[in-house]
Amino acid sequence: MKRRVTKAVFPVAGLGTRFLPATKSVPKEIMTLVDRPLIQYAIDEARAAGIKEFIFVTARGKSALEDYFDHAPELEATLRKAGKDDLLEALKTTNMESGAIAYIRQHKAMGLGHAVWCARRLIGNEAFAVILPDDVIAAEKPCLQQMVEAYEDTGGCMVAAMEVPVEKASSYGVLDIGEDMGHMVRARGMVEKPPVGTAPSNLAVIGRYILTPRVLQNLNQIKPSAGGELQLTDAIAEEITKGGDVFGYRFRGERFDCGSKAGFLQATVSFGLAREDLRDEFRLFLQEMLSVQQAAQ
Ligand code: UTP
Repeated sequence: MKRRVTKAVFPVAGLGTRFLPATKSVPKEIMTLVDRPLIQYAIDEARAAGIKEFIFVTARGKSALEDYFDHAPELEATLRKAGKDDLLEALKTTNMESGAIAYIRQHKAMGLGHAVWCARRLIGNEAFAVILPDDVIAAEKPCLQQMVEAYEDTGGCMVAAMEVPVEKASSYGVLDIGEDMGHMVRARGMVEKPPVGTAPSNLAVIGRYILTPRVLQNLNQIKPSAGGELQLTDAIAEEITKGGDVFGYRFRGERFDCGSKAGFLQATVSFGLAREDLRDEFRLFLQEMLSVQQAAQ
């Protein structure tokens, strides 16, 4: 039988402190890249990968996220009356089939692992995907789709992986590489935010995962680690200890860390330049800005 992944968890209950004060009232995932919130990019990627059930782990102050995926009857009626079919079409991408989306609360931000654990009853006993919306990946074939296709052959757990500069490895979950097959590695260990100089490789884990339900059981057993949080990395590493397969998948595409200010700005420039309707004007503006800056130096 073909291995399938139809459920995805979107942990969106973090505090987003790196974007304060904005995130005091605006969820990080609603922040906008060109004209779409981060969460829309994540949902589109999940849909392309064949995901049918979308599980959001939310928190207090995140109701804007729930509203975003609801119908907006007055707005739709106004646009229809004005003949704005293109905008109506754009709104359609935010609509979800009834029952396809579920929200569960994480009452306290106790870490990514804890957020995923909160969704355990909705996930049940099947493989599931996890998407972190603040990792935005521009790719010809969406990253999760690449992974789901690879997973059909491998089974086990799979994490998106990317080479990072050695000095940056301590900011990521890092893979200890057992076997390197080029586009994929088999991991023999995994460590979250290793102290500087101790990382087992420079192959970092990026926010896309395909996980077995056993990882949920592991989350029951592990203790808080890096940052005092319950780490998803530790529960996946536990899977390796128990003899399960964990693969790091070197995806094709460019990843932007939209959880950081610099990454968000870089993504805005890149996505702005990729847009046909904005490209020319935006490029001109950037060129002028840069030459003014250079002249002033
Ligand atoms: P981050 O590490 O980026 O944390 O979480 P954060 O709280 O969102 O942001 P900063 O570091 O304070 O600026 C990675 C992902 O895990 C989710 C976040 O919402 C984000 O999608 N997360 C994190 C939770 O859902 N719950 C948590 O307890 C922690």
